[in-house]
Amino acid sequence: MKTIPQLGFWTRQLNDELCSSLVKEALVSEYRHIDTAQIYANEQEVGSGWHSSDIPREEIRITTKIRTQNYGNLLSSFEQSLQKLQTDYVDLLLLHRPTNLKQHEQCFDALLHLKQQGKIREFGVSNFTLAQLKHAWEYTQGQIFTNQIEYHISLSQDTLKSYMDEKEILLTAYSPLGHGNLLKDPTIQSLAKKHQVSAAQICITWLLQQWCIVIPKASSLERIQENLQAQDITLDEEDLEVIAGLPKNHRYISPPFAPERDQD
Ligand SMILES: NC(=O)c1ccc[n+]([C@@H]2O[C@H](COP(=O)([O-])OP(=O)(O)OC[C@H]3O[C@@H](n4cnc5c(N)ncnc54)[C@H](OP(=O)(O)O)[C@@H]3O)[C@@H](O)[C@H]2O)c1
Repeated sequence: MKTIPQLGFWTRQLNDELCSSLVKEALVSEYRHIDTAQIYANEQEVGSGWHSSDIPREEIRITTKIRTQNYGNLLSSFEQSLQKLQTDYVDLLLLHRPTNLKQHEQCFDALLHLKQQGKIREFGVSNFTLAQLKHAWEYTQGQIFTNQIEYHISLSQDTLKSYMDEKEILLTAYSPLGHGNLLKDPTIQSLAKKHQVSAAQICITWLLQQWCIVIPKASSLERIQENLQAQDITLDEEDLEVIAGLPKNHRYISPPFAPERDQD
């Protein structure tokens, strides 16, 4: 089975000193997986935060994401990420957005090259539709580690998920709290009351129990630690049935660069 710590610390919208200090605190709080991207413009701060935590490199996993369209661009752009992150490899490199199949092939050639060189441990994609993911899987002969997509209690993603389960492609769930909206849902709140935990923890646990990688966004140390403790909760069959009965067709994120969607 593929392994990476299931709960990641997501760093978008964190910059400057706040980013470095929260990355350091997250690592000290026992997060072992940090998720960043070139477009977040904070790889330098992520690298500084990790260094100041004194946690050895081999004990943590770093995911970054790249937006390029051809072989040469990807290689040169990735070198800049390594320099900013102050490391000589990343654990997981994702193509941040789909473009077109010809460009995907050039990027996969570059990713395969980087993997062979040991500069990335694994690679994957983000925001890919079923058709794009099938092409990626076939072109790379089964080397797609994850597809990072919007997934939470209010969005089924059945079409993509059944293919990903079949091929053992890990699902990385972004917006796991439904962009914060699920925290106000009365059903989630009543489950939280039953387990004496928070609504955020119920949403995260539901994803962890499906073996998803989960990357909640939180901006305070208190919430970051609370979200980590979701790993200690277990939802029972009755809870899962209640959650299964909630509507599953609500998208909160519509990235303009990935307008195509699979219909479930
Ligand atoms: N890969 C991509 O292309 C892509 C594209 C778009 C978005 N994303 C994803 O977008 C997500 C961030 O956006 P989102 O807002 O939709 O994420 P979310 O994780 O579903 O929700 C985050 C919201 O919940 C709040 N929150 C977090 N932990 C909490 C807790 N324990 N108690 C109460 N409130 C809590 C946050 O508040 P505070 O921040 O104020 O703490 C924030 O308002 C990330 O997961 C990211 O991975 C990825």
